[in-house]
Amino acid sequence: MKRFEIFSLALLTAALIAAQNKNSPVNYDESKVPAFELPDPLRCENGLQIETARQWESLRRPELLRMFGEQEYGVTPQRTGIKVKHDVVALNPNAMGGLATQKQVRFTFTGKNGKSLDAMLLLYIPNASKRRVPVIVSYNFHGNQTTTMEPNVIPSPSKEVVKRLGSEAWVRGEQSSRWSYELALKRGYAVATMNYHDICPDSPELMALGIPSLLPDYDVWNRKENEWGAIGIWAWGYSRIADYLQKEKRIDKSRMVVLGHSRLGKTAVWAGVQDKRFKAVLSNDSGCSGAALSKRVFGENVGRITANFPHWFCPAFNQYSENEASLPFDQHELLALIAPRHAYVASAEDDSWADPKGEYLSLYYAGPVYRLYGMQGLPNIEQPAVHQPQHYDVGYHIRAGKHDVTPYDWQCYLDFLDAIWH
Ligand code: GCU
Repeated sequence: MKRFEIFSLALLTAALIAAQNKNSPVNYDESKVPAFELPDPLRCENGLQIETARQWESLRRPELLRMFGEQEYGVTPQRTGIKVKHDVVALNPNAMGGLATQKQVRFTFTGKNGKSLDAMLLLYIPNASKRRVPVIVSYNFHGNQTTTMEPNVIPSPSKEVVKRLGSEAWVRGEQSSRWSYELALKRGYAVATMNYHDICPDSPELMALGIPSLLPDYDVWNRKENEWGAIGIWAWGYSRIADYLQKEKRIDKSRMVVLGHSRLGKTAVWAGVQDKRFKAVLSNDSGCSGAALSKRVFGENVGRITANFPHWFCPAFNQYSENEASLPFDQHELLALIAPRHAYVASAEDDSWADPKGEYLSLYYAGPVYRLYGMQGLPNIEQPAVHQPQHYDVGYHIRAGKHDVTPYDWQCYLDFLDAIWH
């Protein structure tokens, strides 16, 4: 067979597997959760048992980090050759009725191939305090202009691109229930947001218009087994926002938080794991391939997620489709990679697709790594009832209601951050 034919055959087979897995069954019955054994985060591949934080950092942590890169999200390149320029294009010292200073900063990314891409950061800094303040960094789904009714917020550049995905919903303020800016600002936190499509449109067809357009060797349709996907690229984008915030005079560099909901929760965790400048990582309903344990195979599973969103992961992740038992790692080890920084997981009661119990257990099983640092993980294996936040060195809550971000979630996050920092 000629190479082209082999390639076509491979594509056809992959498409057939994907089509099959789109229909792979989804389990919502606790009694049907398979018996599974979780890998021990403190046991190295060569069998060595980790006993100290130092051993964890020099031996086991790098090993796990490599595994998640090579087999799930794809490896983040050390050097992309991409340059970033920042321009403050709007500055309002009296935003939100005087509560905040609002800055809108255009990021211009330029690749070695000379191509450029714009992204827009919206930043609110509380006016009440003259001291440096902590900041919560979080991507939005539909553009900066949808996170608030403030009329001067410039629509995110990707608005036009993503219209092609069929989203009509990009109206001003349309997502504002998810953004408790006032609450955060009144409690002394800055908030920074950007639209994730600005970094990389969330579709295999349009991805090439994002950061991949600046990477001449990147071909979404023909990636190497371990090559990064959209989650990896968005996570890289979070780090570029961190670069900017590190230079912002009013921001306390030692208290940067990354928060994300759902697919962006998966992204926040992967970003927080890799970039130690994020001192707290808040996962809101991140579910499968986020906080939730894969081996429970409850709600969304690896077969479904890799079939529906193949562009989010590296191709090597497909081997675990309908085969979670063979995963050499699980998501509790991803959360453990955040230690000794703070991990927080939030679930919603009606969000079975994201497996709230699996999200809780995952954080629980990250506990032994926190203990190496003399820090306290979750003490109880039993998931708490709704509206009973568990705040230790890590945090968890489950609230009533659906898959969403609500003012209650924000309130819990702020309570937790206050507790660890004040
Ligand atoms: C889908 C997907 C989830 C994801 C969610 C979201 O439901 O299956 O994995 O978290 O979209 O991002 O809203």
